[in-house]
Amino acid sequence: MFAGSGQVASLSNGVKMPWLGLGVFRVADGPEVEQVVQWALDAGYRSVDTAAVYGNEAGLGRAIRTSDVPREEIFVTTKVWNTDQGYERTLRAFDSSLKHLGMDYLDLYLIHWPVKDTTRDTWRALEKLYRDGRVRAIGVSNFQAHHLRALMEDTEIVPMVNQVEFHPYLCQLSLREFCARHAIQVQAWGTLLQGKIFDVPEVIALAGKYGKTPAQVVLRWTLQHGVIAIAKSSHRDRIQANANIFDFVLARADMAQLDALNRDLRLGPDPDGFS
Ligand SMILES: NC(=O)c1ccc[n+]([C@@H]2O[C@H](COP(=O)([O-])OP(=O)(O)OC[C@H]3O[C@@H](n4cnc5c(N)ncnc54)[C@H](OP(=O)(O)O)[C@@H]3O)[C@@H](O)[C@H]2O)c1
Repeated sequence: MFAGSGQVASLSNGVKMPWLGLGVFRVADGPEVEQVVQWALDAGYRSVDTAAVYGNEAGLGRAIRTSDVPREEIFVTTKVWNTDQGYERTLRAFDSSLKHLGMDYLDLYLIHWPVKDTTRDTWRALEKLYRDGRVRAIGVSNFQAHHLRALMEDTEIVPMVNQVEFHPYLCQLSLREFCARHAIQVQAWGTLLQGKIFDVPEVIALAGKYGKTPAQVVLRWTLQHGVIAIAKSSHRDRIQANANIFDFVLARADMAQLDALNRDLRLGPDPDGFS
């Protein structure tokens, strides 16, 4: 169990966010998402990451409501989808997400992708939701440094989190440096290379060296970079194993070896060309 063992990051507003969460992208609403969330809570996870566009907020919310873990001990993130951006639409999208989740507040609300003409108005809606106390932290996802710079030019609150694709083939060094300068916590998605991390020889070798799995090695590498990790799995044994990353430390040379795999390779869309 890793819950309660102090494995939390502090966001710029002081809100605590677990260093590891369960992702539920491509997990079906209904029994499947309810089951994986329950397994994750049993394994000690206290953070879950969904999005309106994943279509599984209802099942995720039901799993949390019916679990033995109090709502306030679980960090719940969801995201406003591109077609819901804009001030009024975002406020409505937030209400709809909360209704699906069956919750009266959210821990983190993110703008899922930058959308050129609407993102500023979307951010103003997030600022209102934050000021009204309906969400404990607000942030963005898939924002490059130039998106953040533009957003911060004439808005009041600096995003607390930027959730981006991050793995040994896409280390995001300059974006991480930018975020560190502005106290924006980076959170990773796709860290397991959407399952292909098990094919990377250097990661397999390090897994052998540490007596860990390739997934555990790369999730540990993520944490040691000060980046919050999310791992998705629909299998109970993998959900449990992926959480077992707080009992070892990668040596500096091994961190550097993983960093050296960077080739700026994206699995997902390029944020500059996707809306
Ligand atoms: N903000 C965004 O735009 C964005 C985009 C993508 C994802 N995300 C979030 O980030 C989360 C994680 O990213 P992701 O789902 O794209 O991919 P990921 O976590 O990198 O990889 C998930 C894949 O790895 C497999 N896997 C997980 N643990 C494993 C293990 N121990 N052994 C073998 N295979 C394992 C899973 O298979 P099984 O399920 O079969 O175990 C699944 O196919 C998502 O669920 C979502 O919450 C956000």
